[in-house]
Amino acid sequence: MTVLEVIQKSTEFLAKKGIESPRLQAELLLAHLLKMPRMHLYLNFDRRLSDAELSALREMVKRRAQREPLQYITGSANFCGLELVVNRHVLIPRPETELLAQKGWEFLLNCGVEQPKALDFGTGSGCIAIALAVHCQRAEVWAIDCSEAALGVAKLNAERHGVLDRIRFVASDGFDALPAELRLDLIISNPPYIPSSQIERLQPEVRDYEPRQALDGGHDGLDYFRKLAAGAAPLLKPGGVLMVELGDGAADATRAVFEQRGWIVAGIECDYNGKARILIARPGNAVQA
Ligand SMILES: C[S@@+](CC[C@H](N)C(=O)[O-])C[C@H]1O[C@@H](n2cnc3c(N)ncnc32)[C@H](O)[C@@H]1O
Repeated sequence: MTVLEVIQKSTEFLAKKGIESPRLQAELLLAHLLKMPRMHLYLNFDRRLSDAELSALREMVKRRAQREPLQYITGSANFCGLELVVNRHVLIPRPETELLAQKGWEFLLNCGVEQPKALDFGTGSGCIAIALAVHCQRAEVWAIDCSEAALGVAKLNAERHGVLDRIRFVASDGFDALPAELRLDLIISNPPYIPSSQIERLQPEVRDYEPRQALDGGHDGLDYFRKLAAGAAPLLKPGGVLMVELGDGAADATRAVFEQRGWIVAGIECDYNGKARILIARPGNAVQA
């Protein structure tokens, strides 16, 4: 079969299985298999696939038809222009989180501290921590996660992007395993924030494949914001800030969580669709060390 025939057959199969954008998905899988940019498929429509290539593609298309996310099948995702390894131990980085990472590195570049220190709480694939280290070369970055398997992926990604020596990866449940004397200019986090009861209603790609501990934010989705509001202030230097990604429609409730703990909410930033996406807060009278 030729490239064009294979694209057509795979598209038909994925469409029948109810996969969104089936042609695009088929093309991305084939481009990954043939190690070429997707657009190059169009220059190679007549190329014949070997038996080995055909059976490898069939396997990938079957996985996608079973709703496994494309990024887990190809093993890679793009974040802020960085190609990252992903697997089922880590959340697939989302485009909306790029804005949080960008706000983070802009803060580090402009905070007036010679060697600013930042902590990424719940680093997953390492996407935010790595973007901070890449864009602010003088920053010292800490990255924590309760999942050892996720930290393994994050370290691999840091190595690939040449920042492994500038990020300290720590396995930690909450802030527990951090050194007592650590003081930071920035704490940044995209924590789990889906209310537990909504997880069953998520699309199968998320519900059945992404790690539950990366999604579940407790009964109202705010558990991790409570943890951060309760525990982050003593870790911040004077002038330090906290930046978190917000759940859909959860800006007011999240603001209230921080304000009740004495934090001053310095800003709520919207994404390109006008949705409130990032909350920026300073400790105020929340207990600081
Ligand atoms: C929503 S994911 C975010 C991953 C990554 N930062 C991103 O933006 O794609 C949340 C991460 O928090 C981690 N996590 C969950 N509970 C935690 C805890 N108690 N302490 C530390 N990390 C935790 C999960 O393992 C997961 O990797």
